[in-house]
Amino acid sequence: MLPHHVTVGPPDAPALVLIHGFPFSLEQWRPQLDGLEDAWRVVAYDLRGHGRSATGPGPLFIEDLVDDLVELLDHLGLESACLGGLSMGGYIALRAVDREPSRIHGLVLADTKAGADDNAGRVKRAQAAKTVRAKGMSAFADGLLPALFPKERLDPPTSAVREVRAMIEATSPEGAALALGAMASRLDLRERLADIRVPTLVVVGEDDTLTPPAEAEALVAGIPDATLVRLDGAGHVSNLEAPDAFTAALRAFLERMHPRT
Ligand code: MLT
Repeated sequence: MLPHHVTVGPPDAPALVLIHGFPFSLEQWRPQLDGLEDAWRVVAYDLRGHGRSATGPGPLFIEDLVDDLVELLDHLGLESACLGGLSMGGYIALRAVDREPSRIHGLVLADTKAGADDNAGRVKRAQAAKTVRAKGMSAFADGLLPALFPKERLDPPTSAVREVRAMIEATSPEGAALALGAMASRLDLRERLADIRVPTLVVVGEDDTLTPPAEAEALVAGIPDATLVRLDGAGHVSNLEAPDAFTAALRAFLERMHPRT
């Protein structure tokens, strides 16, 4: 399914395609779309059942989401792109570079990890899917926000907290439930990291407790050409909590990959 997407920047500039986390939308990438559009072609899109993309039939697998990404690259005429993903977006990006290496020439992995859910994690996903279908997104946001942000940023809510809540509440409950199933059945890609052949930037918020800095360090240790950027004052949604530092890290990485003469 072709996802809803936005594109900014010069059409002939090297492309960066950004995949949002769960259960957000492409709006998550607004600071990076605004901050990079002077020099880079930046594409952000809504995953199935999120933002303005249709939900589609279930069950949903990460493979379907990689299919959607490939369809988007084809639609945009991009033989290859630099691909970035945060959290669930990173799970998709990691599988995409594993399955479709010719379509990706650079990778950004933010607040994510290569391992799969353990049994307890899968049970939690199934329970969360039931809750989201029964109670809706607002109640789901109440439960999720404390895992995404340190306590002191929730009350009063920072602008990042408010933006994340708005994105969660705009997601369809069925879209979120299907995405939970896709995450629960994702592959363990830790053994595949050594085969990633593209320059990779790993970014993590210092205060991320869902995918903590140790997970980012494991990615950097496993991927042959990877560099780590740790962001102070940011939790799991690091691109919104430290938007300028996140964008600067992306810009430096893109400039390294595509040096201007
Ligand atoms: C995300 O931000 O995409 C999710 O927290 C990832 C997850 O639940 O594993």
